[in-house]
Amino acid sequence: MANSLKGKIALVTGGTKGIGKAIADKLALEGAKVIITARTKPAVETEHYFIAAGDISRPEAGQIIADELLEEFGKVDILVNNAGANTSPGGGYSTLMDEDWNNEIQLNLMSAVRVNKALIPSMVAQKEGVIINISTGAALQPLWKMTMSYSASKAALNAYTKALASELGPQGIRVNAVSPGLVKTPLMEAFIADIAAKNRTSVEETFHAIKNEIGDLPLGRMAEPAEVAALVSFLVSPEAKYITGTNYRIDGGTLPVL
Ligand SMILES: NC(=O)c1ccc[n+]([C@@H]2O[C@H](COP(=O)([O-])OP(=O)(O)OC[C@H]3O[C@@H](n4cnc5c(N)ncnc54)[C@H](OP(=O)(O)O)[C@@H]3O)[C@@H](O)[C@H]2O)c1
Repeated sequence: MANSLKGKIALVTGGTKGIGKAIADKLALEGAKVIITARTKPAVETEHYFIAAGDISRPEAGQIIADELLEEFGKVDILVNNAGANTSPGGGYSTLMDEDWNNEIQLNLMSAVRVNKALIPSMVAQKEGVIINISTGAALQPLWKMTMSYSASKAALNAYTKALASELGPQGIRVNAVSPGLVKTPLMEAFIADIAAKNRTSVEETFHAIKNEIGDLPLGRMAEPAEVAALVSFLVSPEAKYITGTNYRIDGGTLPVL
């Protein structure tokens, strides 16, 4: 697939760390010009164009990103809505405040909704485009102790992905979700370290406890961000031109059902 994305303009939100950085690097390797966003500019300069849009969960962030991107590059071919996180405390329904629920919805659903809304018209104008919404296996397998509100917000992202694919397919735009399981990223490392500190256990014990909680991990390890990036790179490539309206799990076999 070398150079399969030559001439394409790609936006990767949250493209400075973890899965987003791996996706940005991979799309660039395939020939795309990549634009990234995050709250913090990377300390080390990269080949990617950085848009400083602040917290993407703010209502105005999507338009800020779209305005600068279109002014600089004139079009967008690939949108990867990757910025997101599980920001709520664990512990189940009684620990979750309205604010926690709102934060999850703003960050994991509305950020993608707004970025897409601001940039889809330019895709419609060129009758071509690909959108990937990064979801999570936890949307299909919510863990009440750890991911209740996060899972619900990403499940909403899945439903939105499907509806958007149906709406935009006739206009030449493909929309899919990608749902990783456990991926070795700064977010995941912080998540595990946080639980370990709260429970006064080691990181290794906590990882085993999470593995037990999710039930199974046949491949026995977390994914590398580059492994998720390889799937995204295929889905946005011309080789995947008949794939839309689908949610791809990449979870080492975690979920016990097909
Ligand atoms: N890691 C996993 O195991 C896993 C599993 C399933 C799904 N996912 C999903 O994959 C995506 C990426 O996760 P990751 O593990 O790669 O996360 P990460 O390592 O924390 O990286 C997140 C990226 O998004 C940016 N970001 C985070 N919050 C933001 C905000 N409020 N506004 C703007 N930018 C923000 C971060 O930069 P700044 O901090 O500088 O803003 C960073 O570039 C998320 O949607 C997550 O839900 C992750």
